[in-house]
Amino acid sequence: MAEALVELCGVSRMYGRPGQPTFAALEDIDFRMDPGEIRVVVGPSGSGKTTLLQILGLLDAPTSGIHRFLGRDVAALDDRERTRLRAHRISFMFQDNWLLPWLTALENVLAPQLHLARIQKRDRLQALELLERLGLGRQIDQRVSELSGGQRQRVCLARALLKKPSLVIADEPSASLDSCTTAEVVDLLLDLREREGCAILIATHDPAVIQPLSSNRLALHDGRIVP
Ligand SMILES: Nc1ncnc2c1ncn2[C@@H]1O[C@H](COP(=O)(O)OP(=O)(O)OP(=O)(O)O)[C@@H](O)[C@H]1O
Ligand SMILES: [Mg+2]
Repeated sequence: MAEALVELCGVSRMYGRPGQPTFAALEDIDFRMDPGEIRVVVGPSGSGKTTLLQILGLLDAPTSGIHRFLGRDVAALDDRERTRLRAHRISFMFQDNWLLPWLTALENVLAPQLHLARIQKRDRLQALELLERLGLGRQIDQRVSELSGGQRQRVCLARALLKKPSLVIADEPSASLDSCTTAEVVDLLLDLREREGCAILIATHDPAVIQPLSSNRLALHDGRIVP
């Protein structure tokens, strides 16, 4: 079998005081994702979806169990290695999308690159191409505060894809969108997965997202995987 992108074996995330865990946000999770795979995490509010995504995004760590990313035991990495892996291999799309409203669409896509002294010409061209491809060719120099919800979500998507991640993690990406725009964002994700080969993990309550991807769903209830 080819190497998994992500593997969780018996992963739990407990909350409570050290030595006195009182609450399991996730309990005994076994999960595998292959490169280029798409999975949808569903479940009622509080079932552990965001907790799972944060662990898989290397933003949080299990309290027990094994987490491997690209074949590496994440618990064995030091902070620097973990941050590097996250910065280069994982992109996030959040419900409240974390765009900077006073910057333009193009500036937002390039924002993660801003810590570099100079934006590379190659990145700029790629950002322009992504925005064009996502149907935002006319909005490139428009501030994102002037864009619609769906347009903003597409700016997020362009930003997420600029670094060619191995894994895109989207937590409730359609929460502020109407059903038409949601269908559009799902189509874009599927299309981009096809072209770029990145794996995609979406947590959602939204039937418009779940329905076309129902065979790829992972259902959680009270922190456990259920059929
Ligand atoms: N820092 C924390 N301390 C204590 N409990 C927490 C913490 N973070 C999350 N939890 C609990 O873990 C459980 C799972 O939370 P999580 O955010 O993963 O749920 P969710 O499925 O994403 O819910 P929603 O659909 O509402 O976003 C909840 O009961 C939550 O209260
Ligand atoms: Mg959540």
